[in-house]
Amino acid sequence: MDTMELEGRVALVTGAGATGGIGFEIARALRREGARVLISGRDAERGEATCRALGGGTRFLLANLADVGQVRRLAEEAGEVDVLVNNAAGISFWPTAEQPLDEYEMVFATNVRAPYFLTSALAPGMVARGGGSIVNLSTVAAGLGTPGVSVYAASKAALESLTRTWAAEYGPHGVRVNTVAPGPIESEKVLILMGETIEEVGRESPLGRVGRTAEVAETVAFLACPRAGYVSGACIPVDGGRSAV
Ligand SMILES: NC(=O)c1ccc[n+]([C@@H]2O[C@H](COP(=O)([O-])OP(=O)(O)OC[C@H]3O[C@@H](n4cnc5c(N)ncnc54)[C@H](OP(=O)(O)O)[C@@H]3O)[C@@H](O)[C@H]2O)c1
Repeated sequence: MDTMELEGRVALVTGAGATGGIGFEIARALRREGARVLISGRDAERGEATCRALGGGTRFLLANLADVGQVRRLAEEAGEVDVLVNNAAGISFWPTAEQPLDEYEMVFATNVRAPYFLTSALAPGMVARGGGSIVNLSTVAAGLGTPGVSVYAASKAALESLTRTWAAEYGPHGVRVNTVAPGPIESEKVLILMGETIEEVGRESPLGRVGRTAEVAETVAFLACPRAGYVSGACIPVDGGRSAV
């Protein structure tokens, strides 16, 4: 089997400008498939260090995705993109009655509006070149009622809905669009944020543990590759079975 299915292709992974996140592992997995990988982030110094950690074939692009002007500039700077991974996400965890408006706006701007306008800018190029793949990162929380995560979960549910619409819009032109919905994954930021609690959350799933960033990345890379050629409009949980029980 050809192990470099993305040779000659260009991938853009948002929110991959640090080494401890899921985005970094996605960038690594897409490099292994032979793609040139553009990574976007909010800190140039950290982003360049991440590129060095990834080795050759990568380029860092600076963009705060909460700002739609910077989303549009990112799409322009990226140019022709064959694989778009909407991985960056803002979080805001509050009981509904205490939700600050600015964080509400930031979460929807980053998690819904940015993927929306990146897709609207980059998908036409994929169509013109005869195909492409878009992968949106959601969360198991989008399909569960969990107190305190209303805005984050709703933004990801919106993104899952967009996956289905885009699969319908772009499928006839050879562009596949899918969602990956992780359960608790031990990315650096989550470990800092949740500490030991994440282990408890992991125990709620049938597999009884938290997931690894590389396990999410493998699924994203599969969906990005031609070997997933008949998969579109799907939402694939990478959650140890949590969403099934
Ligand atoms: N880890 C989990 O347990 C888990 C579970 C379910 C779903 N997910 C999803 O998986 C994806 C990756 O999560 P992760 O755990 O790797 O978290 P992470 O390390 O916090 O990664 C999120 C990335 O998004 C970037 N980002 C946030 N706001 C941004 C903005 N306004 N503009 C540009 N970039 C922005 C962050 O940049 P900075 O580095 O500059 O902050 C960071 O690189 C997210 O979509 C998340 O919702 C994660």
